[in-house]
Amino acid sequence: MKPPFTSSILALATVAAAAPTDERLEARATPTVYLAGDSTMAKGGGGAQTEGWGVYLPYSLKGVTVVNAAIGGRSARSYTDEGRFTALAAKVVSGDIVIIEFGHNDGGSLSTTDNGRTDCGGSGSETCTTPAGVVVQTYPTYLTRAAKLMTAKGAHVILSSPTPNNVCETGTCSYTPSRFTDYCKIVVKNVGTTVSSFIDHGQYVANRYIALGAAKTTAFYPVDHTHTSPAGAESVAGQFVKAALCSKSVLAPYIKNATASVAGTCV
Ligand SMILES: *[C@@H]1O[C@H](CO)[C@@H](O)[C@H](O)[C@H]1NC(C)=O
Repeated sequence: MKPPFTSSILALATVAAAAPTDERLEARATPTVYLAGDSTMAKGGGGAQTEGWGVYLPYSLKGVTVVNAAIGGRSARSYTDEGRFTALAAKVVSGDIVIIEFGHNDGGSLSTTDNGRTDCGGSGSETCTTPAGVVVQTYPTYLTRAAKLMTAKGAHVILSSPTPNNVCETGTCSYTPSRFTDYCKIVVKNVGTTVSSFIDHGQYVANRYIALGAAKTTAFYPVDHTHTSPAGAESVAGQFVKAALCSKSVLAPYIKNATASVAGTCV
């Protein structure tokens, strides 16, 4: 005799099988980590003999897919103007993590020329008008807008301070954070601390370089004082991982490594 409840078991099985087709549930099971940045993060770095740190990040992660959307030469402004944040936001789903790190191409002056990358100076809603009449926003304005595009889709955004240049260039190692470190903190404040967070990547990398000393650090810079060798990029990625572990970042559950096993010191 047939058990009377067979049909209800089948009905339940159908419901269970249908559940994983929900895009949001799938996204939470295996989130995507998107990287937005410049050549110091990008695949291929700044050209021959160099590499970006985003290439090494996946080796320390588990249970996530990493999409490195960093591109050489970009700033908060040009990444915005080229529609790249909008394109990323179109792909992002709830539970994803977006790491944004800019600064190397954001400086400069807009008073007589415009390279299309320089931001308007300032930490708020100031604007500048270029000689050609283009209205330019500040770094915090560009990245606040970008981060809000991502958080509106349910993603968490990590604002990461830019990597330092070779802090041992003169033979003596020393680091002073750039204004972009403070700007990243302002963006997190603008966007909200439940959906965004700050990682002081620049400070962690600088501390590691100072611990390694001038000879080892300078060997990470085969071409100039900005772009690292593959070994340098691996170290820079390691310091992002260290900082994420030390700060109990939303990324931490997806890191393979124990905090103590990663080189460097918690700040
Ligand atoms: C984490 O562990 C993996 C091996 O499982 C290793 O390849 C990677 O370099 C480690 N990351 C850091 C930052 O030490």
